[in-house]
Amino acid sequence: MIENRNHPLILALDTHDLQEAREFLAPLRSVLRYVKVGPRLWTLGGAPLVSEIRDQGFDVFLDLKLHDIPNTVAAAVDAMSDLGLWALTLHSGGGKTMLEAAVSARDDAESEMVLLGVSVLTSLDQPAWDRVCPGCSLNEAIKSRTELCAESGMDGLVCSPLDLAMVRQVAGESLITVVPGVRPWKVSDDQKRSATPAEAICSGADYIVVGRPIIQAEDPLSAVSSIFEQIEEGFRCRKK
Ligand code: C5P
Repeated sequence: MIENRNHPLILALDTHDLQEAREFLAPLRSVLRYVKVGPRLWTLGGAPLVSEIRDQGFDVFLDLKLHDIPNTVAAAVDAMSDLGLWALTLHSGGGKTMLEAAVSARDDAESEMVLLGVSVLTSLDQPAWDRVCPGCSLNEAIKSRTELCAESGMDGLVCSPLDLAMVRQVAGESLITVVPGVRPWKVSDDQKRSATPAEAICSGADYIVVGRPIIQAEDPLSAVSSIFEQIEEGFRCRKK
């Protein structure tokens, strides 16, 4: 049995319903520290669910990718500052004023919640991005959004494993990097810009996010254990 809650693995708890989420988390309590709640579970369980997961000893990351006018986002961040969250996401496409309003709201509420800006979704590749922003380079967009996050006082950034080198070049060590699109074994799904846990950690990811490869595994504990081994391999690779 693996017992190490220090690995920088964030489980994307994208289950169908609350009961499934509860049953899923129970055996992972002694192993895993970070749990990400997305829009579905938030809709089903809201703030009481966040409290329940925290009471189980997990750090909760609420991934709602807020994207609205600054006043609306600041009001949401103010309310979310009372939830005891470890981290919250905002969409960096909302612009500098929106990100700054979020940081001020969090600070005014005297919360320690980590604010993370999503750069560009890891499900978007250049052809898909061409439809979002015709004529724009995906890499330029990620670069300028990284700069936006750093200049706005955000704590970190959610980015693809393939963007890590550029993010470090632009922002140095000033931003925490949280990396989804991580695939410990080969699967075919909607993630387009992906890498293995070892590659992501070796490239400098501070945290990796993994959902379906664990949620859909026949044996989630052994899936987590295998990802931990790959994370350790990534740290060894960094030292080389
Ligand atoms: O199942 P999978 O490992 O693809 O889950 C990745 C998680 O990370 C999902 O919950 C998804 O919403 C989230 N995410 C992402 N790409 C981003 C930001 C968040 O995949 N850029």
